[in-house]
Amino acid sequence: MKNEQLEKLKRQCVDNVEKEFPGGDKVIVFGEGNTDTDIVLVGEAPGEKETLLARPFVGQAGKILDEFLEILKLNREDIYITNIVKFRPYKINAKTGRLSNRAPNKEEVKLCRPYLIKQLEIIKPKIVVTLGNISLRAIIDDDRITIGESHGTLMDMRSFFLLPLYHPASIIYNRKLKEIYQKDLVKLKCFIKDYINV
Ligand code: URA
Repeated sequence: MKNEQLEKLKRQCVDNVEKEFPGGDKVIVFGEGNTDTDIVLVGEAPGEKETLLARPFVGQAGKILDEFLEILKLNREDIYITNIVKFRPYKINAKTGRLSNRAPNKEEVKLCRPYLIKQLEIIKPKIVVTLGNISLRAIIDDDRITIGESHGTLMDMRSFFLLPLYHPASIIYNRKLKEIYQKDLVKLKCFIKDYINV
C-alpha cells in the first residue's frame, strides 16, 4: 500500500520535474529502503553516482553514511533514505564541458519539497534525521536555522521527531567535525534504543 502510494508520488514528481526542466536530462532519485520504518534519513540531493544508479547515497558521502549506520547498528534495509532535492544539481565547466555537483538552489528545493513532505506523510516515521543545512531548512521551512546551532538537538515536529545532523560529506572536508558527529550519533542511538523497535 505505502509502496504503491510512493510509486504514484514518484511518477507525479517525474512529470513535474520534466515540466519544469523539459528535455528529460533529470534522473529522479526518489528514495529507497523500508517504507514501514520508524527512521527516515533526508540528505541534500543525488550526485553523479547516485544519478547513474538511481539510488541515494551510493558515492563518497554514502560510504561515510554507511560507517555511521554501522555505529548505530542499523542496516539500510531497516530505514528509508531520501533527499530533499530528487535530481542532481550540477554546473558545467565552460572549458571542459564537464559536469560537477553544486548545492541545490531555492527553486529546486521549492519544486521538490512537497514530494518530501508527502513521502513522510505516507511513511509516517517516528524520527526524521536531516543531513546538512538544506534538508533541515526545507523540513522546518525556515531559512534562518543553521546546522551549526541545531545539530544533535531533538525537535518535536508533532507528527515526528527531527534530529538534525551535519551532512556526512562535511566530514570529508572538515575532519574536526567527526568527533561532534559521533556525539550526535550517540544521542540518536539513545533515542532509537528508547523509542524505536528495529
Ligand atoms: N549527498 C546527498 O545529500 N545525497 C545523496 O544521495 C548523495 C550525496
